Amino acid sequence: MTKNSIGLDTKKTKELAGDLNNLLANFQIYYQNLRGIHWNIKGKRFFDLHPKFEELYTDANLKVDEVAERVLTLGETPLHTFEDYTKAAKVPVGKNISVDEKAVQLIVDSLAELLKIERMILDKSAEVSDEGTNSMMSDFITEQEKTVWMMKAWLGETV
Ligand SMILES: [Fe+2]
Repeated sequence: MTKNSIGLDTKKTKELAGDLNNLLANFQIYYQNLRGIHWNIKGKRFFDLHPKFEELYTDANLKVDEVAERVLTLGETPLHTFEDYTKAAKVPVGKNISVDEKAVQLIVDSLAELLKIERMILDKSAEVSDEGTNSMMSDFITEQEKTVWMMKAWLGETV
């Protein structure tokens, strides 16, 4: 087995960086979904939801950067074009959503897709002893599960 300069299996690390690029692309769709609902939300709960969505996209923005820089740390190039993001999209694209229940449901549905990708990367990174990627996924999953619980509570549903 060939190891790279950070001591990880070169071939498997390349594969993992590809999975992280897929996560990056889907995170950007989620980010753009949040911008869309931040801008377009209407109704009596506007003053709650408009800043809440901003809080979420600010957090997503930081995570996008962490994922991209992890891709670089693993020796690969992060995806950065809309074309590549669209091709990889599993996260649903929300367009012109202004109804608050629909906006919050879009967050739940988007996070459900991100969680699937992150769990897959969590398992793969554990197999190749990539602790950096593993702990990042672990943190993302914990935070997003909590966000899903809160969004579901807001919707009056249980997780
Ligand atoms: Fe704004």
